[in-house]
Amino acid sequence: MESPTLNHQVTQPAESRAAKTVREILESGRPLTYIRSAEEQRVVRILSEVARGPLTSTPLPVWTWSLTEGMRRQGEEASFSATESPRAALDFILAHEGSAIFHLKDFHEPLRESPEIRRRLRDVYDAGVDQRKFVVISSAVQFIPEELERSIIFLELRPPDMVELFDFLREETPGTSLEILYPVARALQGLTLDEARYALRRAFASGRGLGPEALPALLEEKRLLVNRSGVVEYIADGTNLGDVGGLEGLKTWLLERSKLFEMRDSLDAEIVPKGLLLMGIPGCGKSLSVKAIAHQFKLPLYRVDMIEIFSGRHGRPEGAFVAACKMMEDMAPAVLWFDEIEMGITSTETGGESGRIFGFFLTWMQEKTRGLFVAATSNRIDRLPAEMIRKGRFDEVFFVDLPSEEEQIAIFKIHLTRRGVDISSFNIAQFTEFTVGWTGAEIEQCVVSALTKARLADRKITEQDLILTAVRIVPLSRTMKEQINHIRGWAFERAVRASVPAVRK
Ligand SMILES: Nc1ncnc2c1ncn2[C@@H]1O[C@H](COP(=O)(O)OP(=O)(O)OP(=O)(O)O)[C@@H](O)[C@H]1O
Ligand SMILES: [Mg+2]
Repeated sequence: MESPTLNHQVTQPAESRAAKTVREILESGRPLTYIRSAEEQRVVRILSEVARGPLTSTPLPVWTWSLTEGMRRQGEEASFSATESPRAALDFILAHEGSAIFHLKDFHEPLRESPEIRRRLRDVYDAGVDQRKFVVISSAVQFIPEELERSIIFLELRPPDMVELFDFLREETPGTSLEILYPVARALQGLTLDEARYALRRAFASGRGLGPEALPALLEEKRLLVNRSGVVEYIADGTNLGDVGGLEGLKTWLLERSKLFEMRDSLDAEIVPKGLLLMGIPGCGKSLSVKAIAHQFKLPLYRVDMIEIFSGRHGRPEGAFVAACKMMEDMAPAVLWFDEIEMGITSTETGGESGRIFGFFLTWMQEKTRGLFVAATSNRIDRLPAEMIRKGRFDEVFFVDLPSEEEQIAIFKIHLTRRGVDISSFNIAQFTEFTVGWTGAEIEQCVVSALTKARLADRKITEQDLILTAVRIVPLSRTMKEQINHIRGWAFERAVRASVPAVRK
């Protein structure tokens, strides 16, 4: 893999996002931290990372306590005797000399049940201030007693980032080369470590070990987990820029941006590509282009379903939209596709739910992590608020028009060759006489019908088949002439044409 991120990670072992958060809390001198996470093992890993890190010149010892095992120093087999009771654990911490991290597993139970324990923990707090003795409680549930609220800092872990996943994979699959680990870590991004472990097992169970061939199984696992959210869908699709006919302006722009995007960590925030808005006539390649973007950027593609968001099945639309955007931040780097964005976005001035969603969207586009590239598509462009185009924070707004003759020829070629037709003897240019005002989707439809006809007759497709099919197709642009003219008129003033190399900027 040629990714700069990989080189970065190999040369300097980076600190994971989770470890950084915990370290900063401890560095601020807070003696009591409460981490809510269902992943106890992960907390153990993070604490050892923090203990090894730059907190002190010598690594901090980490002690772990559980009700069944008592207090035990990490890396040692035997527990310290008679420390199983929560009270004994706290006494141990109080008596301990020198700085250390004390990890108390599932300590919410003793806290909930016993006033004595709550009192003793306050003693630990008082004694621990500025002593560099750090107590970290981990539990799957949040329970912080009122009298301790001001003394405990509460933290919820977000899914592991690339650094953490990478370390995890290195431990789980020792000896695997970095070239393999990197795409695997990427594929697992957005999952918890437990989910990642499960996905790995599944890949191993398929009997092929961990290599490039395990990726489909991992991605499938992730697809299932992401789709469970109901509003975001992971789209596995091999479409590349070569599958898109015409739209040269858009393609050139994308090639430039994909380079910038790859360098995003070393660039000024201003020039890191944030996203684009594609609007245009139905069936002319907007969705197709978005899929090709993901391929060009070498990133996974996620589609946010605006209809689902507004269905009410996932609570208030605003909440569902915000949750989807937040979830995607954990999936970065990725391309995030808002299809039919006009469904959910109306002017902030109109107020109401969709006005608020738009308000959130504007801020989010500005603040979101660098690793997310947003692709929004719309064909009811007249419904989009003008601010979406002016202030939507898109790097560019493209208008995808009906294909020109040249573009139509390119589209014919793509669809014929993809279906195994040898076009060397075809004069494709002559077809355009019959395809005035056609969309790309109509060209595809013509190719498919003509091919079907030939197959049924058990012979090869001919130019004649295509022409006979073409004359029978009534294009959308004829039946919807008014509407298309309206879309065009509206878009010409507001967007860059995707077909010609961009002149703006
Ligand atoms: N420029 C093109 N090059 C190649 N194929 C195309 C092109 N435009 C459209 N097609 C074909 O038509 C199909 C439909 O296009 P696509 O889904 O991208 O349209 P769209 O612009 O997203 O339309 P809608 O607004 O209805 O969502 C594509 O899957 C593709 O097969
Ligand atoms: Mg579409």
